Amino acid sequence: MSNKLKIQADMIRKATTMGEALPFIWDALLLKTEKMIGQIGDKSPHVAKADGIYDDMRYDWWTSGFWPGILWVMYEMSGNEKYKDAAWGWDEKLEQKMVQANNFHHDVGFQFLPSAIVKYKLTGDEDAKRRGLFAANFLAGRFNLAGQFLRAWNQEKIGWSIVDSSLNLSILFWAAQEIADPRFDHIGKAHANTIVNYFIREDGSVNHIVNFDPQTGEFIESLGGQGAGPHSSWSRGQAWALHGMANTYRFTGDKKYLYAAQRVANYFLACLPDDHVPHWDFRVAVSLDGIPRDTSAATCAASGMLELAELLSPLEGAVYRRGAENILLSLSKHYATWDQPDHEAILIAGTGHFPNGENIDVSLIYGDYYFVESIAKLRGWKTRIF
Ligand code: GLY
Repeated sequence: MSNKLKIQADMIRKATTMGEALPFIWDALLLKTEKMIGQIGDKSPHVAKADGIYDDMRYDWWTSGFWPGILWVMYEMSGNEKYKDAAWGWDEKLEQKMVQANNFHHDVGFQFLPSAIVKYKLTGDEDAKRRGLFAANFLAGRFNLAGQFLRAWNQEKIGWSIVDSSLNLSILFWAAQEIADPRFDHIGKAHANTIVNYFIREDGSVNHIVNFDPQTGEFIESLGGQGAGPHSSWSRGQAWALHGMANTYRFTGDKKYLYAAQRVANYFLACLPDDHVPHWDFRVAVSLDGIPRDTSAATCAASGMLELAELLSPLEGAVYRRGAENILLSLSKHYATWDQPDHEAILIAGTGHFPNGENIDVSLIYGDYYFVESIAKLRGWKTRIF
């Protein structure tokens, strides 16, 4: 197996275009993810550090949907039942945690879209549908009417909202369609408007956290959060906004979200270094030499750009498709673990939370998920999870 992967890796590195590399990347992903099923087992992976072994996080941790998400995409694209068998029980595990003491919050979209909702879409399983609707109701219940925002996190952060929530909106739009109930649309659009009005700056960079008065809904301040500071530009935050607003346009047809996604994408592309893989913050220092990368920002942004390319005319979308292909080819050549058969992740060089000194230069399961999602999109995948 490892010899077969090495052959694919050599072919990927020799390729000069994504068109040439794509069949080898796909074969490498098939080999890699099949091996990951045995390596990961029942773990809920979040981070793999230098030893290449994924940790095992709580089921209410925001990343618990990404591994089943990888399995469902690979199942749909390959037809191999091994992926389906490994993915099947995940949404039930998350549901069990929902009825125990837990810390679920605005990220239930990240958790239930790639586990319950995709399972329902692919298999028609009614329990999975019920779990998805339960999570959508939970998220809708976090809406602050005065401030028109979905509340982030729990504990004392009552007026906080964060840009990451952009990708969670798909669960509301899905629920609205699924049970023909526009309440979910109203909340999704109201929060998306808040993202456009308070998070996405005129130049296409974004704020991570905005603090509103939870009583009056008035804007108080923006905070640096996982970025370098309040006026910096956390690259994964740009990626969440880009992909999330592109999805919101797909669901609503409102051009305001399309233009917002394009503004962020144009800015993101302008900030990329020569190898097309973003630093963890685009404004951390005047010279970005030696600053850690974040491959998870790269993959999420690439998938968002491929979404834009689908939603726009071929002429208008070409710049985003090219941008995504450049990112994905560079990741496949220089940041993938094809040559390390015991490594449990697909990509290296992710940055989790730089300001806290947590998870720097590691593998991140969401970086792996959005890589798989992007490659699937390049292979013609049409089902959408987010
Ligand atoms: N949603 C948390 C993060 O992007 O790290």
